[in-house]
Amino acid sequence: MTDPALISEVNDRGYAVISMPVNAGDPFEAHRRIADSLGLSDACTPLLYRDPEVRAAVGQVGPYNQIPRDTTSVEPWSEMPGQTFHVDGLLEPLGGIKTTVIHCLTQAHSGGATELYFVCDAFTELSSDAKAAQALLHPEALTRFATITESVPARLRATGPAFGMVDGTLLTRFSDGSTELWNTAQNPDLQRALDYLRGPAAEKHRVKVRLAPGEMLIFRNDRVAHRGCGYTNGEQPRRLTRSMYGAAPSNLAPDGRDRPQSSEG
Ligand SMILES: [Fe+2]
Repeated sequence: MTDPALISEVNDRGYAVISMPVNAGDPFEAHRRIADSLGLSDACTPLLYRDPEVRAAVGQVGPYNQIPRDTTSVEPWSEMPGQTFHVDGLLEPLGGIKTTVIHCLTQAHSGGATELYFVCDAFTELSSDAKAAQALLHPEALTRFATITESVPARLRATGPAFGMVDGTLLTRFSDGSTELWNTAQNPDLQRALDYLRGPAAEKHRVKVRLAPGEMLIFRNDRVAHRGCGYTNGEQPRRLTRSMYGAAPSNLAPDGRDRPQSSEG
């Protein structure tokens, strides 16, 4: 049964936060339940984790992840650094992973929010500088690369536009950290766009969501960049679960027909 109100909220605002009890026996049961409410078909494994070498190096490569992967080595009261803004799916083309769901099992002692950056709104406001906006649409604007296999630099890289229109919707793969290369050499337009996205736009178009245990964050990964903020663990480690989907929330089944809807709103 889909939940039309929740589907609209995620698609219109870019995200939603809901209450979802934690099932200690099966921490991913909540993900399957919400995916059903959002009309999402099966959770997907990102391209990076379908690579045999990466699969061998990283233990947990399915579509459902525990964060951190291994809590046994986490010291009480230890500090974890924050992430930089990114979209999930390092090797995916634009819009490859459309929906991400994060569920909080155990909260950090302090910090640990997820910060969302509404980069598509920021891009739209860049219309006064058409050349800068155009530079972000260029098919070689942004390269993302994995550092898992640094010895083979030509592998596990993906170059593409930072933004683009797909089926009439503006989508993004804006990511800006140590696994990104912006093609700004001799390209002052792209540099100007980047200065804007890193500076004034980022101040204006972002929000922090700190999940309590049993709360779930759903966001449009193809429209919103995000980052995990730094945190301090408590006596118990902070624990999240995550799942990702190639589809956006929708009342329509893949064949275009309406799905059954929940009457509870
Ligand atoms: Fe992420």
